Amino acid sequence: MLNIPLMSNNISEDDKEKLIDFIRTSDRFTNGSKVREFEDAWSNWLGVKHSLFVNSGASANYITMAVLKELYGEGEVIVPPIAWSSDISSVFAAGLTPVFADVNISTLSMDENEILSHITDKTRAVFLTHVLGLNGLTPRLLAELEKRGIPLIEDVCESHGATMGGKKCGSFGLASNFSFYYAHHMSTIEGGVICTNDEKFYQMCRMFRSHGMVRELTDENMKQEYAEKYPELRPEFLFAVPGYNMRSTELNAVIGLNQLKRLDENNKRRIENFKLFIENLDPEKYYTDFEMEGQVNYAFIVLLRHPDRKQFDALTELLRSENVEFRRGTAGGGNLARQPFVRNRMPEFDPSLLKNADFIHFYGFYTGNYPSLESEKIIRLCELLNRV
Ligand SMILES: Cc1ncc(COP(=O)(O)O)c(C=O)c1O
Repeated sequence: MLNIPLMSNNISEDDKEKLIDFIRTSDRFTNGSKVREFEDAWSNWLGVKHSLFVNSGASANYITMAVLKELYGEGEVIVPPIAWSSDISSVFAAGLTPVFADVNISTLSMDENEILSHITDKTRAVFLTHVLGLNGLTPRLLAELEKRGIPLIEDVCESHGATMGGKKCGSFGLASNFSFYYAHHMSTIEGGVICTNDEKFYQMCRMFRSHGMVRELTDENMKQEYAEKYPELRPEFLFAVPGYNMRSTELNAVIGLNQLKRLDENNKRRIENFKLFIENLDPEKYYTDFEMEGQVNYAFIVLLRHPDRKQFDALTELLRSENVEFRRGTAGGGNLARQPFVRNRMPEFDPSLLKNADFIHFYGFYTGNYPSLESEKIIRLCELLNRV
């Protein structure tokens, strides 16, 4: 049996040692100096001004969309059907309207022409997900959005370290979101981060992370403005926006700081693993023309070349018998527009209009790619897939 899980050994013995040392020698465990140290280290790694550590990637999505609404007002957000549920539910939660744009099969991200054709005067942002470690951006898309004054928000929750033109994804848009959930490129057990170069956006995120409180602002001028505007309220209990409590802890930050040290090294393995996987797949049977430039693959993408239900069923049967873990539909389980939480809110929208997302939904899945996965196992996995 091949025995390939989706992820293996993501929290190391050294991470545990660092955590135990920290617990023994510290007495403050909630959001404090270790969180700030991790935020600074992450900003430095990504090449942005500000990072805000939160308790999950989904929380990063929720805060980002809430701030977008607060700053840009009501309207539409262009979203992908291949992403994660919180990429869409955060748009609903903020009182904004999601508008689906179909994906490009070679990146699994929203297609640039699809995005541009959905832009109207109601569009407040494009919320693009970089899927399974592939870069989803193009220079043309960036230039067009800039020309039209449409903010880009990047979801990089499953693509830490992916690049376009040598620059890291997550550093292009107005803001970006990452997840540090267990199976991701690096982990804080649970966790996420919001990144931005925009001062106002950052300050708003700080308030939304902590109950909407003005005292969370690090911009003294903004603090003063609120205090002067609401003299009847106490500045230490001034709730300016309808915020959440989505803070993380010092313990998660200690793990994050240690994990960050090996992220680049681990990413090199992921890149090589995916290249080996694609080189060994039969291109007659499987789609192998993914955009490889800038990829830091999260999980092996298995997509049938032709819509063949029998082949798909035989494959999943075989993988089960070899104890190879997999997820059907790829990221987020496939076409999110088919999910009840979307259909109940957009009953008039026909999800089968998203042709590429539907193809991935019915004929795609992923299997585990992780740094310690042996080359021989990757080759044996391809041999197995090529037989069907
Ligand atoms: C693209 C994307 N966005 C958001 C999330 C949510 O992250 P989390 O599980 O940390 O809440 C995920 C989760 O895997 C994801 O893949």
